[in-house]
Amino acid sequence: MRSEAAGGRAAGSGGAALGRPPVLSVEDVGVVLGGRLIVEGVRFGLAPGEVTGLIGPNGAGKTTVLRVVLGLVRPTSGLVRREGAARRPGGLAYVPQQHLVDAELPLRARDLVGLGLDGHRLGIPLPTRRRRELVDEALERVGAAGFADDRIGRLSGGQQQRVLLAHALVARPAVVVLDEPLANLDVRSEQEVAELLGRVAAEHEVAVLVSAHDVNPLLPVMSRVVYLAEGRAVWGTTEEVVRSEVLTRLYRHHVDVLRVHGRILVVPAGPATRVDVPDPDRPPGSDGGVEQVR
Ligand SMILES: Nc1ncnc2c1ncn2[C@@H]1O[C@H](COP(=O)(O)OP(=O)(O)OP(=O)(O)O)[C@@H](O)[C@H]1O
Ligand SMILES: [Mg+2]
Repeated sequence: MRSEAAGGRAAGSGGAALGRPPVLSVEDVGVVLGGRLIVEGVRFGLAPGEVTGLIGPNGAGKTTVLRVVLGLVRPTSGLVRREGAARRPGGLAYVPQQHLVDAELPLRARDLVGLGLDGHRLGIPLPTRRRRELVDEALERVGAAGFADDRIGRLSGGQQQRVLLAHALVARPAVVVLDEPLANLDVRSEQEVAELLGRVAAEHEVAVLVSAHDVNPLLPVMSRVVYLAEGRAVWGTTEEVVRSEVLTRLYRHHVDVLRVHGRILVVPAGPATRVDVPDPDRPPGSDGGVEQVR
């Protein structure tokens, strides 16, 4: 039971498949929480300037993997190398899974972005003017300048996502980790926020890791995908990973992958089509229940 590169060969030690050296690599990571194995053998690398999608159904372990990447959860096995990310002043930035902000919270968009500066400058306050410049620049980068002085809780979900991204970017991180930033957005905002992630990665040499349950909104901007299911992961380009034979092997259950009008439909077939995929690390008959793709 371990993750593998999409072609079926063993994945490299994080970065072998990348065009550039990774700023962060996850090497053979396993996590046990509350006595239960959540994920095992997860491997991938994050390169500067690229968007990597962490895709999987509810409960697959996306948030857990992101928290391991950030160092908030200690892996039970394997390790995370962050030396590359540590070279940039802002290190790693995190936009957690969204909870809509209370409409009455007396905090303007620009105040929230400003808080992103403080964490990295404890004890060394920036001059007010410089601070304002950095905040304005971050708001500008994500197209949030127009609502900089509005209360954060009164902004729409898509506008809040932009402000949260500005908050993450203001300290100039090497890696930005976002947990389901597209949840609760309409199709248009989904597209806009996804495009924004692509632009931020490309223009600022940031490695972006973004979780989602659906691969489609990220297709235009995603260089690579880490697909999580059944406690395991496959890593590669979208073309390599999101294929019937690869996902069938991951789920141990027949999965059709259809490409229609530039969208990808991942369709699990009925339980009758369950396939027996030999797994050297699992004793026969130890499989859990069949999990739906969505
Ligand atoms: N601290 C914990 N102790 C025990 N189990 C946990 C803990 N945190 C998460 N889990 C379990 O780990 C599994 C994966 O949870 P996780 O939140 O990582 O999934 P997810 O893919 O982010 O799901 P969603 O799409 O719903 O956000 C779940 O079954 C969850 O109950
Ligand atoms: Mg989650």
